[in-house]
Formats: sequence, C-alpha cells, structure tokens
Amino acid sequence: MTFFDAAAYERFMGRWSRRLAPLLIDFAGVREGDRVLDVGSGTGSLALELTATRRVEVVGIDPSAAFIEHARTRAAGRPVRFDIGDAQALPYEDASFDTSLALLVINHIPDPRKAASEMRRVTRRGGRIAAAVWDYGEGMTMLRAFWDAAVALDPAAEPRHERHMPYCRRNQLSTLWAESGLQEIEETALVIPMEFASFDALWAPFLKGQGPGGAYVASLTPDRRQALRERLRQELSAGDSDQPIRIDARAWAVRGNTPQR
Ligand SMILES: C[S@@+](CC[C@H](N)C(=O)[O-])C[C@H]1O[C@@H](n2cnc3c(N)ncnc32)[C@H](O)[C@@H]1O
Repeated sequence: MTFFDAAAYERFMGRWSRRLAPLLIDFAGVREGDRVLDVGSGTGSLALELTATRRVEVVGIDPSAAFIEHARTRAAGRPVRFDIGDAQALPYEDASFDTSLALLVINHIPDPRKAASEMRRVTRRGGRIAAAVWDYGEGMTMLRAFWDAAVALDPAAEPRHERHMPYCRRNQLSTLWAESGLQEIEETALVIPMEFASFDALWAPFLKGQGPGGAYVASLTPDRRQALRERLRQELSAGDSDQPIRIDARAWAVRGNTPQR
C-alpha cells in the first residue's frame, strides 16, 4: 500500500500533479461540454483543474478510499463525482464518456492493458483517451536522482528504481495505445519546473511513506536514511541545505482516438 495518506501525498507528489494537469488537459484537447473520466483520480488534481477551466462534467475513480475522501472534500460544489473503484474493471456503461484521462497512474495499475481496454470501452466512438507518466529514468530529475542515490548506497535496491517502471520512456505509452486499438496516436513530452526553498524542503516529503520512494525510505534504519539524504544532496549538487533548488520534471504523454465505428 503506497497511496494511503492524502495530505502527505499532496506535499510529496500531488502538488506536481496539479502543475502537470493543465498540460495534459490541453494536450488531450478536452472540449467544452465533454463528460470526462479521470482514471486513478487520486487526490483530485486533474478533475479539479478540469472543472476550474472548462464547462465539463467529470467522474473520478480510484481504489484509495483516503484519496477519494480528500478529493471529495476539495471538490465540494463542483460538477465532479468521485467513485472508489479499479481501472481494470470500470463500473461504467460502454461509451458513456467523451474523454478518458489517466494522469501518472498507468504504472501503478497491475494490468495496464486491461485498464487501457476498459478506458476504450467506456469512451464513445471517436472519443479521446490520453495519459501521462513520469520519465522516471531520466527527465523526472527528483525521482531519478533519488533512486540513483539509493542504488549507489544499496545495490540491492536496483529492482525498486522507478526507471524499471514499464511505462516511463518515449514510445512506450504509444505502443500501449496502439495495442489497445486506438487511432491517430500522438505522443509528446510535458515538462514542468519544480522549485524547493531548500534541500530539506525536497527531502522532507520522502519521509512520509508515500509512493515507492517513500516506502523505500520508511524501510531504512535511521543511519541509512541519513546516508541516503546526504547522497541525494550530492546527486542534486545541492550545496548548503538551505539554498533554493530548481529542477525540471518531464512526463511522456500520449493521446489517441477510439475508432469511429
Ligand atoms: C501517482 S498517483 C496519481 C494520482 C492522480 N492522478 C494525480 O495525478 O495526483 C497514482 C494513483 O493510482 C491509483 N491506482 C492504483 N491502482 C489503481 C487501479 N487499479 N485503478 C485505478 N487507480 C489506481 C492510486 O490509488 C493513486 O491514486
């Protein structure tokens, strides 16, 4: 269980999702009046950005009850509903959405092919399906540096390095979309800046147990945790802990259309 504390997730990664969300929405080409499905809606960043910037109706779905509860609180009064459920067995009618989106979710679903096929099923003919994943092995600087530091100190952590995520490199999402029978597939890089007031502002959220990185830190003894903190500081060339840090985070995004008939 790596997604259970909504406030901690928000401080660790949710705030960057919020920054990435408008880029995915623009790339997906969400239109006024669309009924949109937000698969793996988490704490609600994508759904809230959609309803803040467009006249749309949104349904979010996620298996984490804590995240759904947090999203419902944030979304009070908006045209959005959040359901607890699984992307691999969507509890929705065929062709009941114009657009289906998945922001930073595909790698966390046990069977991404099944999820893509479910997204296709619930999206109308000629509808749009889009997703984004972090470029864990390279352009997502914070997580790449974190795992490089972890593996340098503890080679046994190599299999946990998020660069081994099945979808984190150019063309991998496009291949999944093509295998799912989607058409007019296009892929792009989406890049956001991440700023931190200090190295400690970057490091502290890793101590809250969220996501694979947080789970790894939680498994370490205090000494090894401290060694990892120092190694990550070196990886990021962060001199004094109280100097501001600015790094980029790159995601790969894909869009495709369901067949017209
Ligand atoms: C990295 S978070 C992204 C959440 C949100 N989309 C965002 O951008 O902030 C991954 C999310 O995938 C969800 N997830 C995990 N397994 C899932 C599944 N089988 N179906 C749908 N969502 C799933 C997790 O609960 C978590 O909320």
